[in-house]
Amino acid sequence: MFAKDLSFIGWDEVKRRQLDRLSLVPQWIELTNLSAGMTVMDIGPGPGVFTRKYATVVGKRGKVYSIEKSPLALEFLQNEVKNVDNVDVRLADAEHGLVDVPQPDVVFVTDVLHHTDSPRDVLENIFGLVHSTSKVLIAEYDPEGDGKTGPPLEHRLDAKHFIKWATDVGFSVESTSTQDYEHYYLLLRRTKL
Ligand SMILES: C[S@@+](CC[C@H](N)C(=O)[O-])C[C@H]1O[C@@H](n2cnc3c(N)ncnc32)[C@H](O)[C@@H]1O
Repeated sequence: MFAKDLSFIGWDEVKRRQLDRLSLVPQWIELTNLSAGMTVMDIGPGPGVFTRKYATVVGKRGKVYSIEKSPLALEFLQNEVKNVDNVDVRLADAEHGLVDVPQPDVVFVTDVLHHTDSPRDVLENIFGLVHSTSKVLIAEYDPEGDGKTGPPLEHRLDAKHFIKWATDVGFSVESTSTQDYEHYYLLLRRTKL
C-alpha cells in the first residue's frame, strides 16, 4: 500500500526507514561539497534524521532551513531538533512556493518528489531561489530497482523525467548515478540566468 502523504505509516516508521538509509548521506554531502558555515535548504525533511546530519556538518556558523508541508511531520521534526540550534523548521509546500529564506548554498530534495503532484513545480521554485554556485541534490528511488524496499515501482519517477524538467527550468545536470537502496541521484546547478 502506498499514499503520497505517507498516511499509511506513522512518523516513527518513517524515521526508522531514514535510519536504514543513513549510509546514503555521506555521498550526498561529498557531492555537494557541504561544509562548515554553509546554508542548507532541506526540502521535505520528514522526521529529520538527515537534517541533523547536515546541521552537524555546517556547524554553528551554518544553518539548515527545513521546509516541510505536513503539520504532523513538522511537529515530529520540531521535537527531534529541539536541542539543535542551527535548524530552522518552516511549514510550507515547496510545490506552491518557498518561504523567504536566504539563498542556500545547497538544496537537498531526497525521497520527496515522488510524494508531490508536480515535481517540476518544485524544481521551478528551487530555481527561483538558488544562485549559480548553489548545488541542488535530488535523490529518488529508481524505477529500475527490484522493488524490495521503498515505494512500489509504479510510484517511482524515472531520472529521464527529472533531466528533462531540470534542463527545461534552467538547471544543468552536473552528475547522476545510481546508489544503494535502489536509489539514484542528480546533482543540479543553475545555469540559465
Ligand atoms: C519520505 S519523506 C523523506 C524525508 C527525507 N527527505 C528523506 O530523504 O528520508 C518525504 C517528506 O517530504 C514531505 N513533502 C512532500 N511533499 C512536500 C512538499 N511539496 N513540500 C514540502 N515537503 C513535502 C513529506 O511530508 C515527508 O515528510
